[in-house]
Amino acid sequence: MDKKSLMELLDSLTLNEKIGQLSQVHPTVLFEDGIVTGVINDNTFSEEHIKNIGSVINIFGKDKIRAVQENHLKNSKIPLLFMADVIVGYDVIFPSGLSQGCTFDPELIKKLSRISATEMAADGVNVTFSPMVDLCRDARWGRVSESYGEDVLLNCKMAEAVVKGYQGDDLNALDTVSACVKHFAAYSAPVSGRDYNSVDMSERTLRQEYLRSYKAAVDAGSEMLMTSFNTIAGVPCTIDKRLVKDILRDEWGFKGVVITDHGSLGEQYSTGHGVASNSAEVAKFAIDATVDIEMAGDCLFKNIQNLIQEGKLSEDQIDAAVFRILELKNKLGLFEDPYKYIDNDLYEKIDRQQNLEVAKRAVVEGSVLLKNEDSALPINPESTKVAFIGPYLSCDVTSPVWSFHLKNRIVGPTMENYLKENYPDSDFTYSFGCPILDNGDWVSEFCQEDNDEYFKNEDRYIADAVEKAKNADIVVLALGEHYAYHGESKSRADIRLHKIQRDLVDKIYEANQNITAVIFSGRPLDITDISKKLKSILFVWEPGSMAAEGITDMLFGKELPSGKLSMCIPYCVGQMPIHYSELRTGRYAELGQKHSFGSRFVDAPIKPLYPFGYGLTYTTFEYSDLKIDKTTLTPDSEITVTVSVKNTGQRDAWEIVQMYTHDVVAYMVSRPMKELKDFKRVFIKAGETAQVSFKITEDMLRFYNYDMVYESESGEFEVFVGPDSETTDCVTFTLEK
Ligand code: NOJ
Repeated sequence: MDKKSLMELLDSLTLNEKIGQLSQVHPTVLFEDGIVTGVINDNTFSEEHIKNIGSVINIFGKDKIRAVQENHLKNSKIPLLFMADVIVGYDVIFPSGLSQGCTFDPELIKKLSRISATEMAADGVNVTFSPMVDLCRDARWGRVSESYGEDVLLNCKMAEAVVKGYQGDDLNALDTVSACVKHFAAYSAPVSGRDYNSVDMSERTLRQEYLRSYKAAVDAGSEMLMTSFNTIAGVPCTIDKRLVKDILRDEWGFKGVVITDHGSLGEQYSTGHGVASNSAEVAKFAIDATVDIEMAGDCLFKNIQNLIQEGKLSEDQIDAAVFRILELKNKLGLFEDPYKYIDNDLYEKIDRQQNLEVAKRAVVEGSVLLKNEDSALPINPESTKVAFIGPYLSCDVTSPVWSFHLKNRIVGPTMENYLKENYPDSDFTYSFGCPILDNGDWVSEFCQEDNDEYFKNEDRYIADAVEKAKNADIVVLALGEHYAYHGESKSRADIRLHKIQRDLVDKIYEANQNITAVIFSGRPLDITDISKKLKSILFVWEPGSMAAEGITDMLFGKELPSGKLSMCIPYCVGQMPIHYSELRTGRYAELGQKHSFGSRFVDAPIKPLYPFGYGLTYTTFEYSDLKIDKTTLTPDSEITVTVSVKNTGQRDAWEIVQMYTHDVVAYMVSRPMKELKDFKRVFIKAGETAQVSFKITEDMLRFYNYDMVYESESGEFEVFVGPDSETTDCVTFTLEK
């Protein structure tokens, strides 16, 4: 449909029909059952309104989608949009966002979202509530697993890749869907890491660091954006005109659809944020902020008509919102054919095996080898007696939380089953060890654990594990955070492994000190104590459908883990929030070495256990000969920085080479000690040396200066190139403007 016809369609709608487009209903409004991904308030929709709604959330399956659309079109001339939380794949489940961040491979991540789009579009879903590009620096926050980590540039690159992967070149194609970047803004920085809690940060930090990845998604063409639940400086983001209208639309030029998060408009009264005394006020705030769709709430529906009659809102404002929604439906081709996504056999034709191979690559690229003393890994499965012990060995919940509601998701075998099937002749033993959770630990209503049998016979279980450990050359412990301990509303105050598993490490260590731990987790954990007892540590996060095969191949050296930390592994929870790109502070250099007034902890180091960008593999790399081709940069020139990276080990391998800069002096504004400016994943054969180059241009050095203008400043810069954020190898140049 061309723009004129779309305008005519808009003009032909009654006000009630227009208001309908602004509502997104939850499946339980339409049927008795339905997937629940948020609080269901007592929304009261009239039957008339339900006939006019514009979109639904989390309805899956061609048959169901067809039935809902058919029913809807009996009363409405505007097809429904089917939106869903397809965050880590649809049928083939990929590793969590955090693991994807650790790949430092935007091209691969683009492929993952391309695959997701293909699978979901072929099953009738038009919009995915992804990517989540919230910058994460506090591992207590339950949703760090969904993010790409702590770094601005990495988040921006991933945001762009994912949006392009979902949306492809043509939104009208049968294998593309609309992205919806979220959660605008700074949802990831709640005070004390507690989900939904207030966010309080300077405008400089907000703009310089937190807003950047949403903007990258917008610049990449994301058709939708979701507002966040939190307040910033006391103002709830979901109704904040300054954030949504002034920054997102007017400053950044976003023309797409803005949707609220689940029921968030209903959280503005005195029982919530307390910024409005009734829903009419909230509806006015939201529409003035240019919010278009209310997810799972009735605030807009109930009030817009009256607000227009009272002259508090204009019908033009509603028209603008409705037009944006119609435009999206039009781009997706729903007016030509509301059934185009389901009237085909693309879903049946998808090559899942091929997609699983890509998923496996993501497991390998996103897993981070933190420690590998005495080259304990890889293990030769032919000649080594291995005792596989631990709760994650037989646990089949190794996929990210946001896949649990996807009914056709591919779960994949447990590690134990996979090993037994594929290595039947190896000298392997298996023991449960202990449950994931201690007796009496909190479990969510969705994940009841039944470990009575274990706790009645605990001694027997432990004896079995210890015995098998004693008789093995090496022990592989499959440990991890319980899957109900991260995700939405799952913040933690203690980010260590569950005590029962820490105790298991102690007991096994007494029997055999050659221990490798494979750690499943939704967040960076505090593993400081147990790490001392482990020879190797392989962090695999939440690997998804290809967990067992990917991990086994890494353990046995068929594949080399090649991820680097996209969020540091802290030394202890008290360091939170922490990130490598902190400001130096006036007291940093001393660190308490010269006198006792350093910016430090008296009972813990200020550095994390493993820094951002860190990760090992089954070879070693040597960096040398860092060079810069000029020492002066001007706005119309560029500088090239080159480093030699030699693979000094026995295996061909990938290395992620990272370039950071430091702006030595800036007028009145302290600048981060290091900022990642570029990175490259390079494949280097054993014994060979790669020359890796990076370009630096003036625009890469801009920041929000004292007057909050985004520009660079003349002066000296340091450039660091190395294997992680603690690299000290540096050259300098001067920016002359
Ligand atoms: C709330 C979450 O914050 C958001 O990420 C998700 O997309 C919606 N619920 C819908 O399930």
